[in-house]
Amino acid sequence: MRVLSGIQSSGKLHLGNYLGAMKQHIEAQHEHECFFFIANYHSLTTVQDAKLLRELTLDVALDYLALGLDPKKACMFRQTDVPEVCELAWILSTVTGRGLLERAHSYKDKVEKGIAASMGLFCYPVLMAADILIYRSDLVPVGKDQVQHIEMTQDMAGYFNNTFGREVLKQPEAKLNEAMVVPGIDGQKMSKSYGNAINLFDPPEVTRKRIMSIKTDSTPVEAPKNPDTCNVFALYRLLAGPDEVKALEERYRKGGMGYGEAKKQLADVTERVLAPARERRAKLERDTDYVEDVLRTAGKRARAVARGVMADVRDACGLVASKDTHGA
Ligand code: TRP
Repeated sequence: MRVLSGIQSSGKLHLGNYLGAMKQHIEAQHEHECFFFIANYHSLTTVQDAKLLRELTLDVALDYLALGLDPKKACMFRQTDVPEVCELAWILSTVTGRGLLERAHSYKDKVEKGIAASMGLFCYPVLMAADILIYRSDLVPVGKDQVQHIEMTQDMAGYFNNTFGREVLKQPEAKLNEAMVVPGIDGQKMSKSYGNAINLFDPPEVTRKRIMSIKTDSTPVEAPKNPDTCNVFALYRLLAGPDEVKALEERYRKGGMGYGEAKKQLADVTERVLAPARERRAKLERDTDYVEDVLRTAGKRARAVARGVMADVRDACGLVASKDTHGA
């Protein structure tokens, strides 16, 4: 099984990114062949500042390595180190009806939010399909908001294969990330754009303060509390061990514990999870040559796979004289 996912480098990562996606990615490295790439071509639809884009790209790599991605197991690379995806995106766009893209929710949402309606933004799902199909990926772990894009990818693989009469591209499956919505400090889904995020790599005091400001209801200290409707507990459940979760749940139901106490426990567990990663990240920041080397090596590995698939793609559509002269 080949697992693939792309991470867009468009800002500081937060607990929602970690619990909703990165954690599953990192765990998958023990079970499957994993390809994870930093989607910097995609970022160009929203980040158009060279210095910032370079920084954000490196940040994603640092974050993943710090949180436990093992470059010997998982292949983590930059999207741009496999420029063939742009070629495949072009080819896919010639077999894809405009109507399909016009139905994309994510495009409409982004334009509503004020992002420029460029051709790149409109064609975002085609490039994403190319990302997936170029490695003949089996499974694509994504959040709910990306499921439509995976369905479009399946459609595009089908259009290509039907048009050229060959089963060249493999239809992938989406793997929904199991963590339900991760709440931010205001109880809405944690998101950079809502300003409610708890960042992964802020200084510990900042993270603690953020946690202490999570919105709770006004149940008095003595009264029993419902853990299932509490934002603090929702995060605790995702971060603490099963025994700890059970213990805190009991204290909620018994009453006599204020939310301040629950928040302190959440802050402690969060620190326990993040502290080693913060330390590793600090070390990696001082050795960006190593990080660059990891990305480049992985990029070569990914590119070799992509070139093989592209040779078949070009051959299937007659873009090369014959299969043995493709010169991949
Ligand atoms: N669109 C994805 C997101 O915003 C990022 C992405 C780009 C991606 N290419 C991909 C995810 C390929 C999975 C597979 O999260």
